[in-house]
Amino acid sequence: MKKPAILVACAVFPEVLLQLQQHFEVTSNQEDVAWTPAELIAQLQGKQGAFTTGSQRIDAELLAACPALKICANMAVGYNNFDLPAMTAAGVKATNTPDVLTETTADFGFALLMATARRMAESEHFLRAGLWQRWRYDMFAGADVHGSTLGILGMGRIGQGIARRGAHGFGMKVIYHNRSRLDAAAESACGATYVSKADLLKQADHLILVLPYSPEAHHSIGAPELAQMKPTATLVNLARGGIVDDAALAQALKNRVITAAGLDVYEGEPAVHPALLTVPNVVLTPHIASATLPTRMAMAQLAADNLVGFLLHGKALTPLN
Ligand code: GLV
Repeated sequence: MKKPAILVACAVFPEVLLQLQQHFEVTSNQEDVAWTPAELIAQLQGKQGAFTTGSQRIDAELLAACPALKICANMAVGYNNFDLPAMTAAGVKATNTPDVLTETTADFGFALLMATARRMAESEHFLRAGLWQRWRYDMFAGADVHGSTLGILGMGRIGQGIARRGAHGFGMKVIYHNRSRLDAAAESACGATYVSKADLLKQADHLILVLPYSPEAHHSIGAPELAQMKPTATLVNLARGGIVDDAALAQALKNRVITAAGLDVYEGEPAVHPALLTVPNVVLTPHIASATLPTRMAMAQLAADNLVGFLLHGKALTPLN
């Protein structure tokens, strides 16, 4: 029987590609060329499956032009690159990679929080520039993390992982806001207390964003929200570009409306708002929160298993629709 044809639209672990080649006729993009939407459509002709990342937008126009497509398996837990209603309407299965990245991403939330609050990037740049001459009592004095109040906006799996680390590892008071409140058992397991968004902004010493992107979540943190935060506060965005108004954040950092920020995601990434590159009190990382080799391998494997499960056995492991 002829193997189904799939497109692997991004570079992936060679061993995962080999596995896929056992089951499918694979066209792959191991050179990781950033295809335009028209090039992606051209590459998808005749393909029943696509292995994607957040860099490939799957929308109604693409779906109409790719009638053979049956499934897109995203190697990411976030799926704002998918127009899910359009995929459902077109009868195209969508899958993501939940769970396998939760703990790694929660670790990174803390890494970015610590780096931001303790001014690690700024002080390292100072040292590399040869500016360090002597120890000084207030040199790069930052904010304490232990014992402070940690605010979490978005309380899914990753938010709960961050809450557990804060409450049980760092002795923090953990408060959160989410569209829906956790049940009492889940709140007590991660040591977190539900508050309104206004109280979250007002009370947090450190605020971490881990909510999924949706049009309603666009600019959840902009100038009005930043103005409600403590001037000593730090903000960490692990969620998605667009949840924060990056221009407003750069202005707030410059004017010390808040003290510092740590960002792993950006509006319009891989472009970064130029004003963010000019303020010293921000730690910038290139969307690497899930980037450990074991976790990236688990994500790639789950995306591959979704393609095999759905196209060969009619059942995706982690379907979104
Ligand atoms: C990364 O941002 C992901 O959604 O997995």
